[in-house]
Amino acid sequence: MRIVLPKGRLFQGSLEILTKAGIGLKSPENRELIVKNGRYELLLARAFDVPVYVEHGIDVGISGSDVVEERESDVFVPLELPFGKCRLSLAMPKESITDVEEMEGFRIATKYTNLTKKFFESKGVEVEIIKLSGAIELAPKVGIADAIVDVVETGNTLRANGLVEAEKIMDVSALLLVNRISQKMKFEEINDLVLRIKKVIREGL
Ligand code: PRP
Repeated sequence: MRIVLPKGRLFQGSLEILTKAGIGLKSPENRELIVKNGRYELLLARAFDVPVYVEHGIDVGISGSDVVEERESDVFVPLELPFGKCRLSLAMPKESITDVEEMEGFRIATKYTNLTKKFFESKGVEVEIIKLSGAIELAPKVGIADAIVDVVETGNTLRANGLVEAEKIMDVSALLLVNRISQKMKFEEINDLVLRIKKVIREGL
């Protein structure tokens, strides 16, 4: 079975829950992207790409619900996982807080272009979306955007950059993802994995 995990903030939690579920996975060394371990193969991908790998054939993955929604990935989600809790929010400089309804024509920097588009459309407000790949908080600081849509966990990054959270767009959690064909073809094996993880969650191990 091939399992794809996200590099970055969800990696440690992912490895921990799989280890507790009895799937002994060696942490990849150096810049390794594939680690073989018995009948499991652990793959490492960028967080934003994990649902894409699962949709296109990797059996199982762990990803944030923000990314699954943004990518509109067609994957099966058997479980929400008890880590990676944060939120996707609209944030702006504290000196220029503006109601969403008043943001017509504003420039919004984000990695989440789809979710941002949907959010503003739902409010009937047309904005210009600037797609960036990370460190989004920089954009309003240097004046290339009026606001951002990004993940907020502790709020430290916003505070450190003079930004305030104006509105929560969605709650985010880590999810277990399963490829739709694997779910049918490898049902026993995948069901066994899901049950083991459920047990870990239930017993708070
Ligand atoms: C994320 C996010 C914020 C920060 C929020 O960035 O984009 O910058 O974490 O966390 P906080 O509220 O606890 O400060 P990440 O470090 O994942 O990398 P990125 O900036 O490349 O997206």
